[in-house]
Amino acid sequence: MAVPVILDCDPGHDDAFNILLAAAHPAVELLAITTVAGNQSLEKTTLNARRVCDAAGLDDVPVAAGRDSPLHGRPRLAEDIHGRTGLDGPGWGAGEPRVPLDPRDALTLIRDTLLAHPVPVTLVPTGPLTNIATLLLAHPELTPRIERIVLMGGSTDRGNTTPAAEFNILCDPEAADIVLTSGLPVTMFGLNATHQVRATPDVVARIAALDTPLSRLCVELLTFFAATYREVYGFDAPPLHDPLTVAHLIDPSLISLVRAAVSVELTGTYTRGATVVDLDGVTGVAPHVDVGMEVDVPGFWDLIVEAVRVLGTRTDET
Ligand code: BDR
Ligand code: CA
Repeated sequence: MAVPVILDCDPGHDDAFNILLAAAHPAVELLAITTVAGNQSLEKTTLNARRVCDAAGLDDVPVAAGRDSPLHGRPRLAEDIHGRTGLDGPGWGAGEPRVPLDPRDALTLIRDTLLAHPVPVTLVPTGPLTNIATLLLAHPELTPRIERIVLMGGSTDRGNTTPAAEFNILCDPEAADIVLTSGLPVTMFGLNATHQVRATPDVVARIAALDTPLSRLCVELLTFFAATYREVYGFDAPPLHDPLTVAHLIDPSLISLVRAAVSVELTGTYTRGATVVDLDGVTGVAPHVDVGMEVDVPGFWDLIVEAVRVLGTRTDET
């Protein structure tokens, strides 16, 4: 049976590929997409989610906007990585996407979806955890409707936004703490795992060879992403962080997991937003999070290329 999923995201180049993967693969039933401020403002991430749905021919999945700022403090953007639109690279044009914005807010859409679905649903957040934390606080009665949370964020080692903190967690550390201490099963794919999957020129060439409008758009996205990752981090090729989440749901054997206690640093002079992952079990805190470790990199890219191929064929037919 396909895994029923709600994506909560901030597209974002890697979020965009996660939407494509979830839309394309029969092992996933994509029920809804909700957006949050993160890589760009809420307005832009929401527009981008709809644009990606358009490109993927995904017109039967509701898209709703969530929180425009973290639980505390001001939003932090990643314009240096994802550009002014949040999804720079392709020429998106000025027109409105065909896929409409759902009139409900993200919390209402998630709530309605959880209540309507016959079995518990997996939440897949790939941006700051503001929407998910707000949902858990506002609707504790819904937790039995949530199967598990599979998120991109944090790291077992260093950060990418400060020396200690990864972007998604640093944007809203209090929200991350609420999610990680919720008692729900959480699987976390952090930078230690996501930095293994880099969109090298041979991967980009495989996507380009598909030669569809969607594959050309994907190449434009990856080309922009490669340029900013080279400029900001000196990486040879950009890591496609977020799709590790859906790849794990499609094929759990792709990424090894270890169970460990994970705490979010909420104070710290230099370490706010760090995920402290107790791999050696020295803190005495019971291990409660499944943490992604080693990735089958070729297997991951096979899934991504196949997703672009499948959706490219579908959109060519319409
Ligand atoms: C995370 O931050 C965002 O820029 C990416 O979309 C990803 O979710 C990586 O740190
Ligand atoms: Ca993201």
